[in-house]
Amino acid sequence: MSEKLHTVPAEWAKRAHVDAAKYDADYARSIQDPDGFWGEVGKRVDWITPYTKVKNVSYAPGNVSIKWYEDGALNVSANCVDRHLATRGDQVAILWEGDDPKDSKAITYRELHEQVGRLANALKSRGVKKGDRVTIYLPMIPEAAYAMLACARIGAVHSIVFGGFSPDSLAGRIEGCESKVVITADEGLRGGRKVPLKANTDAAIAKAGGVDTVFVVTRTGADVAWTEGRDVRYEDAVAEASPDCEPEAMNAEDPLFILYTSGSTGKPKGVLHTTGGYLVYASYTHQLIFDYHDGDIYWCTADVGWVTGHSYIVYGPLANGATTLMFEGVPNYPSSSRFWEVVDKHKVNIFYTAPTAIRALMSGGEEAVKKTSRESLRLLGSVGEPINPEAWEWYYRVVGDSRCPIVDTWWQTETGGILITPLPGATDLKPGSATKPFFGVRPELVDAEGKVLEGAAEGNLVIADSWPGQMRTVYGDHKRFEETYFSTYPNKYFTGDGCRRDADGYYWITGRVDDVINVSGHRMGTAEVESSLVAHEKVSEAAVVGYPHDIKGQGIYAYVTLMSGVEGDDALRKELIAWVRKDIGPIAAPDLIQFAPGLPKTRSGKIMRRILRKIAEDEFGALGDTSTLADPGVVDDLIDHRQNKK
Ligand code: PRX
Repeated sequence: MSEKLHTVPAEWAKRAHVDAAKYDADYARSIQDPDGFWGEVGKRVDWITPYTKVKNVSYAPGNVSIKWYEDGALNVSANCVDRHLATRGDQVAILWEGDDPKDSKAITYRELHEQVGRLANALKSRGVKKGDRVTIYLPMIPEAAYAMLACARIGAVHSIVFGGFSPDSLAGRIEGCESKVVITADEGLRGGRKVPLKANTDAAIAKAGGVDTVFVVTRTGADVAWTEGRDVRYEDAVAEASPDCEPEAMNAEDPLFILYTSGSTGKPKGVLHTTGGYLVYASYTHQLIFDYHDGDIYWCTADVGWVTGHSYIVYGPLANGATTLMFEGVPNYPSSSRFWEVVDKHKVNIFYTAPTAIRALMSGGEEAVKKTSRESLRLLGSVGEPINPEAWEWYYRVVGDSRCPIVDTWWQTETGGILITPLPGATDLKPGSATKPFFGVRPELVDAEGKVLEGAAEGNLVIADSWPGQMRTVYGDHKRFEETYFSTYPNKYFTGDGCRRDADGYYWITGRVDDVINVSGHRMGTAEVESSLVAHEKVSEAAVVGYPHDIKGQGIYAYVTLMSGVEGDDALRKELIAWVRKDIGPIAAPDLIQFAPGLPKTRSGKIMRRILRKIAEDEFGALGDTSTLADPGVVDDLIDHRQNKK
């Protein structure tokens, strides 16, 4: 662990929204008087009916209920679009940079208003109304933001599915929330390669059923199959629709979106976020953590298919009247200078990306960075996984020319917004540490029995009280919500992460402590990959764990037991990797497959993952107690196989 300290530059302390003294004072008040604190912060958004109540939360076992601003009414799209028209109608809202460097466009707030209004009416004309679910399966094009905001405008609940997911994964998510409408494109374009989104959608709908309308954006102009009566050309639908659409008054606790995310068990969960608290939290964190000021050009490289894209490409920035850059492509196309060329082209001031991208670019050397200017950059951000101090220092020194603070922001799909982070004008930085809690956030470290650890300590990270951006339930399964997050440590929200707190009160996230792997900043449930593998006819059993990977942070390591008589060879390895890729999506494809004649199990038949993890990490000496295994000899076999493979 690095203990190097980068102190707050004087000009930052002066200019930033929050300096060290204000952080201390406001943090203390936010904890002592959450109602007073969030009651004031809540006024930053426009309310149709002002709230009189602020916080109403119970984490009590069997009775978890989370409500913020519960008697207020507002509309998210009115907050992200309409309210800026008078003051910044001609300002750029979305700066779009295509996969091809020659492709870019700027959409002003006035244009955004028209596009959102038209699509909202087009959705209405196909029968979509308040409370209905709409699945969005789009590439990173402005229509993705229009679609989100159009749903929000009429009170429909969107569920975005990342364009890299397979037809089966899409089908599961369409079925899970019973969407009747899907918004997709003919094809996506990433790194010069085409993604068959419409064909995937057709395959998904054939499996899921229940979909009566598919809006299809023309992105590449490819010839795609067409189902008359169901498929609607997006461009025709919006051209025919009126741009005027009155925003629906939504209760603060009405759902805004569902986003499926992987957990340690079962199928992905539909994380449900609601309207008022989410918007207040996304906009407030965006302004303070990225120290957003009028006129800044802000770029978050995430995809809208993940929560980072929801909160910090679309909702937070647009609620703040920001200019937000949306990038269709990948970091290394056409060359590994692309990010920095885009920074120079659009004069980006604030840049937010993931450690995996930084590590990949770092392995390509400094030259690709140094040949660009990057003089517009003022602040850098990191999200999605722990950033190792070496990558942090490289990001700071090479990308930021030792001039730009880095905000290492820790949060989750479930948290709606950033919970642990530096504030650039207030917090001295330690490379590798997400530093301190944001306002209103009460992190605690607990041991396995739930005992709260004080001072410098390492344990499991829980949050002792609610914040406005917190998820409210698992869509359609409140019991699963309570069991997943509130039963391990009663009366606390359990994050699933391990964490260390140092003597200065700085938090260092150490990674997941459950059966979730973080691959390139994307969450993958080991159980999902296992059930995909065992669905293959030659596989009898599979166990999946994470292992340290230089670029991805964690890679996927699969131990596979084959059906008797089947020989494991490289061809079968390739076949199984391709199988999972097709079944779930490329992000779930195992990096390594070890054929294992047997897996270490307890006498009651439970697979001992702890042992498998250690073998995958090559820590053969740290296997711990193996005496409770049904057949301890299995472990020696696995180690032999692992060593012979090298
Ligand atoms: O393990 C933590 C890791 O990513 C998990 C959340 O993943 P997801 O819901 O997909 O959201 C990612 C983007 C918010 C967490 O449980 N994680 C996220 N940010 C950090 C992090 N780990 C360490 N440092 C971070 N800054």
